[in-house]
Amino acid sequence: MPDKFEKIEEQIERLLERDREKEKRIKDEEYYKVRQLAFDNRTVRSLLKLFNKGVLEDLTWVISAGKESLVLAGRGPEGELAIKIYRIYTANFKKYLDYIIGDHRFPPVRDRDKIIPLWAKKEFRNLKRLRDVEVNVPRPIDVTGNILVMQFIGEEGVPAPLLKEVVDLENPRQFLDAILNDIRKAYVDGDLVHGDLSEYNVMVWRSKHWIIDVSQAVVTAHPLSFSFLLRDLERITSFFKKRYRIEVPDPYKLAEDLAKVKEV
Ligand SMILES: Nc1ncnc2c1ncn2[C@@H]1O[C@H](COP(=O)(O)OP(=O)(O)O)[C@@H](O)[C@H]1O
Ligand SMILES: [Mg+2]
Repeated sequence: MPDKFEKIEEQIERLLERDREKEKRIKDEEYYKVRQLAFDNRTVRSLLKLFNKGVLEDLTWVISAGKESLVLAGRGPEGELAIKIYRIYTANFKKYLDYIIGDHRFPPVRDRDKIIPLWAKKEFRNLKRLRDVEVNVPRPIDVTGNILVMQFIGEEGVPAPLLKEVVDLENPRQFLDAILNDIRKAYVDGDLVHGDLSEYNVMVWRSKHWIIDVSQAVVTAHPLSFSFLLRDLERITSFFKKRYRIEVPDPYKLAEDLAKVKEV
């Protein structure tokens, strides 16, 4: 077992060196966060499990190093993968508890070590549920401990740009409608509200939108689901209004209409 551990640690080291060599603009702060992974036994153990299961074959790049998670690019038997690692020691636990209210799938847990894997599982299940109702989200592939493995959106380790980073959408009107339609499907058919939707959590790949970062999505029974829905709609419509100067529907009216569909 110990030598297997070392192998994963080596992989992480290699990952960091590769990004440095290729000048993938990995910042010192990110470098440090990824380095920490090698010292986090639980994460190393989960990575090991993923390699042993045959889900993961290689780790290739560091895509993003956020406060609560790291996203790596990797490879599996069917091609490129995105690997989202929830960071055990820095995560925001209060947030977890606030979002899980009213979700019968997840009993309240207060133990730090149990919460993070649950958070990864929650994102996995939300992705699955959203795909089932045909919302454009990455295909979930596996969840092991604090690690979620999903379809990679992009190519050759380079993630697709975020909506925020794109300046020349061909048909912004149509693009906005497609996102609004997905919000509707999620709400009406999937019983879910994203809760953190904005130009930062939508990727643009091959002229299509991909909604990501669904760990905090709440069920429509959540006491705040309507206000989250409204906020999602406000952020998305106001982004399109500002960046593309198009007329957008009134978010409040959209939210009310959706809530009505749900009532009958
Ligand atoms: N499936 C994916 N394929 C490619 N890149 C991804 C994927 N999921 C996330 N990313 C990249 O990682 C970044 C962080 O992921 P996200 O789920 O938004 O986590 P957080 O915002 O909590 O750090 C995204 O902005 C995106 O660039
Ligand atoms: Mg995000």
